Amino acid sequence: EKEMVVGLLGFGTVGSGVHQLIEAHQDELVHKLGRGVKVKRVLVYDLQKAREVQVNPELLTNDASEILNDPEIGIVIEVMGGIEQARNYILRAFEKGKHVVTANKDLMALHGPELQSAALENGCDLYYEASVAGGIPIIRGIEDGLVPDRIESIMGIVNGTTNYILTKMDDEGVSYEAALKEAQELGFAEADPAGDVGGMDAARKMAIMARLAFSIPVDLADVEVQGIEQLALDDLQFGKQLGLTMKLIGRAHFQDNRVELSVEPAFLPNTHPLAAVKNENNAVYVYGKAMGETMFYGPGAGSLPTATAVLSDTVAVIRNMILGVNGKQVIAPRFEKVLKEPEQRNGQY
Ligand code: NAP
Ligand code: HSE
Repeated sequence: EKEMVVGLLGFGTVGSGVHQLIEAHQDELVHKLGRGVKVKRVLVYDLQKAREVQVNPELLTNDASEILNDPEIGIVIEVMGGIEQARNYILRAFEKGKHVVTANKDLMALHGPELQSAALENGCDLYYEASVAGGIPIIRGIEDGLVPDRIESIMGIVNGTTNYILTKMDDEGVSYEAALKEAQELGFAEADPAGDVGGMDAARKMAIMARLAFSIPVDLADVEVQGIEQLALDDLQFGKQLGLTMKLIGRAHFQDNRVELSVEPAFLPNTHPLAAVKNENNAVYVYGKAMGETMFYGPGAGSLPTATAVLSDTVAVIRNMILGVNGKQVIAPRFEKVLKEPEQRNGQY
C-alpha cells in the first residue's frame, strides 16, 4: 500500500517526538495499518536553530504553504502551539481537504467547536487526544469508552508542570523557581509557563473534557481558576506535618443541568490516590452513573508520551481514510442539540 504522507507544524518537544516515533516505530505502523507513515515537511520558526533531535534539514521550512498547499500531504499535525496562527493554518488545511491532528489545548478550549464544525463541513477529521493529559488516552476514554454512560463528574491532576513543581517542593525541598526551571528544561512547561502555574492550562483541559463528557458548550470563563504561584515551601511543609499533600486539582461536576468547573490547589490526605501521583504524571477520575468510578493515570507531559497520543490520533485518521469514514465525528451536532434547549439549563450557559 502507498505510505501515508504527513506534514508537521512544529518541531519542538512534541513535534520532534512525533518525528522520532514515526521513524522508530515504522514497523509497528506498517504492521498495524498495512502502510507506512512518512513525514514530508516540517514547519519551524527558526531554520538555523541547533536541534537535539536529528532531522533532515531539507524537510524543514518556515513557509506553512509548503505543507498546506501540498496535495500529497493528507494529514497535518499541528504541534506548534499558539492560537491565531495555528487556527488559521488548521482552517486552511481543512479547506484543502486535509485531516488535522493537534495537541493544542489553548486552541481547542477557545475554538474547538468552530474547528470541529469546519472539519465536518469539509469532510475532514480533527483529533486532539494530546491536548488533555499528555499521553493518557482520556479523550478516547470519555468519547468512546464511556460514551453510553451519563458522566457526572471529572476530577484530577491535569497539568504536568505544576505537579512536577509541587512534587519537587514537597519531596525534596526544591524551591518553586528551581523546580519550574527544571520543568521547563524537561519540556513539560508551555513556551510561556504562566498558563501552567496560573492554572489556565488545567482550566483549558477541564473545559475540553467537560464539553465532551456533558455534551454542553463550556466556555473557559466558566472555570474558576487559582494557580500555584503564591505557594511557598512553608505551606507545603505545614501540610506535611499534618499528613497532607498539596496538588493542583481540576474539577468538573454536572448535576441538575448545572455545571461547576474549577482548578485550584488543595491539600489531600497522604493516603488519597492522587497524593501518590508524582512528577509530570497526571491522573483523572471520571464518575459515570452506570460505570461508577474510573481512573486514568500516566505521563501528562513530555516528548514521547505526548507524541504517542498524537501518533495514535494519526493512526485513527489513517484507519478512517482506509474505511472512507473521515469527517463523520458526531461532536458538533450533539452541541447543537443542547444549544436548542437553553431554558432547560437554568440560564447557566
Ligand atoms: P515547543 O517546544 O515550543 O515547540 C514549538 C515548535 O513550533 C517549534 O519547533 C517552533 O519552531 C515551532 N513554531 C512555533 N511557532 C511557530 C510559527 N509561528 N511558525 C513556525 N514555527 C513555529 O512546544 P511543544 O512543547 O512541543 O508544544 C507544542 C504544542 O503541544 C502546544 O500546543 C502545547 O500546548 C502542546 N502540548 C505540549 C506538551 C508537552 O509536554 N510539551 C504536551 C501536550 C501538549 P522553532 O523550533 O524554530 O522554534
Ligand atoms: N504544559 C503542559 C503540562 C503540557 O505541563 O501539563 C501538557 O499538556
